[in-house]
Amino acid sequence: MKILVTGGAGYIGSHIVKAMGEKEYDIVVYDNLSYGYEWAVLYGQLVKGDLSDREYLDLTFAKEKFDAVIHMAAFVVVDESIMEPLKYYKNNFVNALNLIDMCVKHNVNKIIFSSTAAVYGIPEKVPVRENAPLFPINPYGASKVMVEQALKDISLVSNLRYISLRYFNVAGADPLSRIGQARKDATHLITVCLRTALGTRKCLDVFGTDYSTADGTCIRDYIHVDDLSDAHILCLEYLISGDKSKIYNCGYGHGYSVKEVVERVKDVTGINFPVRHVGRRPGDPPVLVADSSKIRNELGWIPKYDNLDYIIKTAWDWEKKMSQLTL
Ligand code: UFG
Repeated sequence: MKILVTGGAGYIGSHIVKAMGEKEYDIVVYDNLSYGYEWAVLYGQLVKGDLSDREYLDLTFAKEKFDAVIHMAAFVVVDESIMEPLKYYKNNFVNALNLIDMCVKHNVNKIIFSSTAAVYGIPEKVPVRENAPLFPINPYGASKVMVEQALKDISLVSNLRYISLRYFNVAGADPLSRIGQARKDATHLITVCLRTALGTRKCLDVFGTDYSTADGTCIRDYIHVDDLSDAHILCLEYLISGDKSKIYNCGYGHGYSVKEVVERVKDVTGINFPVRHVGRRPGDPPVLVADSSKIRNELGWIPKYDNLDYIIKTAWDWEKKMSQLTL
């Protein structure tokens, strides 16, 4: 099977490509390298291109004849999406439509879409289930809801089948430290903690200590990127078998507070880095934890790395290696 992976040179995409390569899928990565790296593509062929370039996308589809598409390419920083909504709607929604349009034109009828827990906004009940109402509280989440809606509507009138995977907080790295989060401006909690421990950042800011949680800080469901990659393989196998479209949460089903993560990072690294408490960051829901029983029951997804210390350790090994490299 020949699979197109958009954004396959990025942090999560490169781990999915690794998992697919190990299963001997024929992979074409389509990435503009804005946040991805050529060296991160461990398997398959890299096509440097932008999803806004419809002509080049059309040529690529005509040449390669894909069996399925995994659409990962997107912007992912919640507070940036609030400051620059147009940037997010253009890349995450309009460019996704370009891609779906090409799929329809070239009769590629299997799509796996990288969605997010941010589609729920502030869920009424946690752990949150897939059928909870979608009320995103930032343009990032809204842009993903719009793509989900487009996929649903298009699938109703065509042979398109899709799986939308709603990722919770993806973290960790390849245990062999070949790939990991390489963005120098990464904003995600575990990465920022580790870079503070390494001394490349001065201080870890805890955004908000007055939430209605046990210790006042936000709670998230941190999932190892390799478990998320395995979920993609299961989704691919499911779609290839020709069944119905689906939406699945992808998280472990339990969360950690920001303060708990900071303590675990200090423990795993053995470094007592500076931390200060600051005000809330806009667009942050207090608690996001997945009910992942649907993907476990329907696809038999069994996470292997549900261990925060392991997540931190693999990311720490990667950060130490990366700090010695010039990327
Ligand atoms: N946080 C800090 N200090 C930091 C960074 C983060 O206190 O320097 C806090 C945030 O305020 C939040 C928590 O740590 O409470 C997690 O923040 P991240 O930036 O690591 O992740 P987000 O929860 O904002 O977002 C991530 C992805 C989204 C996805 C979401 C789903 O970026 O794509 O998880 O839960 F939608």
